[in-house]
Amino acid sequence: MKPIIRFMSVDDIPKIVAEDRRILGQTLGEKTLRTELADNPFTEYYVLEDKVTKAFYGHVSVWIDTPLAQIINIYIVPEQQRAGLGTFLIEFVLTLLKSRGCNTLTLEVRPTNAAAIAFYQKFGFTKMTVRKQYYEDGEDADLMLLNF
Ligand SMILES: CC(C)(COP(=O)(O)OP(=O)(O)OC[C@H]1O[C@@H](n2cnc3c(N)ncnc32)[C@H](O)[C@@H]1OP(=O)(O)O)[C@@H](O)C(=O)NCCC(=O)NCCS
Repeated sequence: MKPIIRFMSVDDIPKIVAEDRRILGQTLGEKTLRTELADNPFTEYYVLEDKVTKAFYGHVSVWIDTPLAQIINIYIVPEQQRAGLGTFLIEFVLTLLKSRGCNTLTLEVRPTNAAAIAFYQKFGFTKMTVRKQYYEDGEDADLMLLNF
């Protein structure tokens, strides 16, 4: 396995929409993603894939408004979880954000998503507050914060 991270392109949108739905249960959708890639100077979308086989391993998207940043989405395909790829992605994000002069990173996570919460805590994120009925299905979100 040779994982690499590259910018997401318009050609990746159908795959990202499908994997968003499969892994997160929701997606920004094709139209919004197209607009995001074309017109939003504050957001960046990345794909994690195998350099040789091009197998899709995961995705991360961030909103950057220095010194603040937010993770929009982050995931690793279920077949490759717990093998260090999430760590590879989040370390990439932190290096990227430091290079842009950011020092504060936030994200929302479902309080029932114990794996993701353990993952974020490992990198120093702490729960700041609860966002009531944040998700489409009505579940609350924990707002987590990392200062770096
Ligand atoms: C959260 C997620 C990105 C982590 O990616 P990953 O590649 O599995 O993570 P890593 O292998 O790099 O794990 C790093 C650490 O996170 C923690 N962790 C990861 N998965 C865990 C799990 N299922 N249970 C408990 N801790 C977990 C552990 O501390 C782990 O270190 P260890 O393996 O040395 O114990 C991945 O589980 C995922 O995509 N989940 C589904 C989508 C999702 O929930 N995204 C976040 C939405 S807010």
